[in-house]
Amino acid sequence: MAIQLGDIAPDFTAETTEGKVNFHEWVGDKWCVLMSHPKDFTPVCTTELGFVAKTKAEFEKRNCKVIAVSVDDVKSHKGWIGDIEETQRTTMNFPIIGDPERKVASLYGMIHPNASDTLTVRSVFFLDPRKKVRAMITYPASTGRDFNEVLRVLDSLQLTDQYQVATPANWRQGDECVIVPSLTDPEEIKKKFPKGYRALKPYLRLTPQPNL
Ligand code: BEZ
Repeated sequence: MAIQLGDIAPDFTAETTEGKVNFHEWVGDKWCVLMSHPKDFTPVCTTELGFVAKTKAEFEKRNCKVIAVSVDDVKSHKGWIGDIEETQRTTMNFPIIGDPERKVASLYGMIHPNASDTLTVRSVFFLDPRKKVRAMITYPASTGRDFNEVLRVLDSLQLTDQYQVATPANWRQGDECVIVPSLTDPEEIKKKFPKGYRALKPYLRLTPQPNL
């Protein structure tokens, strides 16, 4: 069955460009973004991996590790890394899983046969520190991902966990957040949101972003 939100992310052991990894152990107590790449030596993937390497500090700020998977072996990945570093002017700083038998790709449903029998789609799985799948994004091979959106989703998930707020349409850092509908006790709301809130409707309550 396909992976769904709230599931524990499937565990696996695999060779990566940084050695053999047991996935759950490698994630440890951090958040994790696992992303698939259709194939080595492809143009869009080259730009994506370069961008993520350049912005790794943004993931670290969010206590999040990044790992990529591509359906070629580690030897091929290592050759490709040379191209990524040269063309994207960066140093690769996170592992790429070798997956020539497509074990990880199959485990995570990253091959969509009606799109391609051989290439993976561009999947992003967001895991929390308990290894629960908290969000998933799927793009076709031809569309490079927006990693600012990946960071925005991480911010939203972490705000929800820490403050019981949700994020409204097009939310960006610094915008108002939404008090989750399950919070109804006025005393509790006052305590949790000392900056106050605006109720546009009883179910639509906006509060300043709580961690700023
Ligand atoms: C790419 O990564 O550039 C790519 C891969 C497969 C199809 C189209 C583009």
